[in-house]
Amino acid sequence: MTQAGRAYFGRRYLISASHRLHSAALTDEENQAAFGRCNNPHGHGHNYVVEVRVAGPVDPETGMVVNLADLDAVVRARVLDRFDQGNLNCDEAFRNLVPTTENLCRVVFDILKPNLPAGELECVRVEETENNSFEYYGG
Ligand code: NI
Repeated sequence: MTQAGRAYFGRRYLISASHRLHSAALTDEENQAAFGRCNNPHGHGHNYVVEVRVAGPVDPETGMVVNLADLDAVVRARVLDRFDQGNLNCDEAFRNLVPTTENLCRVVFDILKPNLPAGELECVRVEETENNSFEYYGG
């Protein structure tokens, strides 16, 4: 069997967190126009489904792209423990960044990319609601 080529491993995690969409670069009226109900000063919550996709060769000895227990440990320590059950607006990553789900994808991607136990981070996909999802591929 050929050893060339890449395989892809995807794993889903849950982050329950609140946020308020508000940009310091906009006036109150512009924020209201841009974000509508999501600009409510009290914020609101989501159960974000975060999918991490890792690409790489299948290790000939283990048959895996990445050991899922090792991946879980990294995601737990660096992402879930940091954001789950929190308010995204209070995290330093969002101090100057509107905590949209697009930006949550980017933040999680940038945290995980240099810290994966094996393989290469292909993308981070986040489902914000049943109807909304976002993907970020870096680069
Ligand atoms: Ni929201």
